[in-house]
Amino acid sequence: MKNILVVNSSLSGDNGNSNKLTTKLVTRLKDEYKAVNVVERDLNTMVLPHLSMEEMVAWGTEKSTRTSAQAALATLSDTFIAELQQADALIIGMPMYNFGVPSTFKAWIDRVARAGITFKYTETGPQGLLSNKKVYVLAARGGKYVGTPKDSQSQYLKDVLSFIGLVDIEFVYVEGLAMGNESVESAWSFAEQELDRLTA
Ligand SMILES: Cc1cc2nc3c(=O)[nH]c(=O)nc-3n(C[C@H](O)[C@H](O)[C@H](O)COP(=O)(O)O)c2cc1C
Repeated sequence: MKNILVVNSSLSGDNGNSNKLTTKLVTRLKDEYKAVNVVERDLNTMVLPHLSMEEMVAWGTEKSTRTSAQAALATLSDTFIAELQQADALIIGMPMYNFGVPSTFKAWIDRVARAGITFKYTETGPQGLLSNKKVYVLAARGGKYVGTPKDSQSQYLKDVLSFIGLVDIEFVYVEGLAMGNESVESAWSFAEQELDRLTA
């Protein structure tokens, strides 16, 4: 493993529980693989608008014929996809907000799921065009939802990541963080064990 892309989106920045989990995993992977290059994309520190039709038209316009406004619009998606293509491993810090993914993360997904680049449709259905990447989803939640129908967040992530070819996904949860000290302690202890299991 040489290149790691970390995508964080906690509103709390480095104080976010999901950020803390990503830091713990990056530290372990650095110990394991030594010379790794880590790129962090913190969606909380940038202005990331909803995807617009103008932006999609810019993607579909041949690079050499894009206006300067279109070139600027297309840069966001081009940059996010290049970061993803270059990574051997993707680490996603994943807060649960209102039962879903942070809206900034959805805005990132809307820029990396791009027809002809990260997926295509065939006669037998969609085919993801990214491959050979390990994905770690490090999820932080106030309540406890793993294994219940209310955990639509995990299913959504499996669906959308596999749609673009990212099928090798490990989930680590730190759950029940709003349920008292004992719950917080056991959640972190369980998460640490999971991180140990996933790294050498
Ligand atoms: C706006 C907002 C919405 C939240 N919605 C949920 C929720 O639907 N379910 C839940 O279990 N926790 C919810 N929480 C609690 C967070 O999941 C919890 O604080 C977690 O630590 C967030 O990750 P972070 O610390 O990395 O930001 C919410 C927190 C915020 C700020």
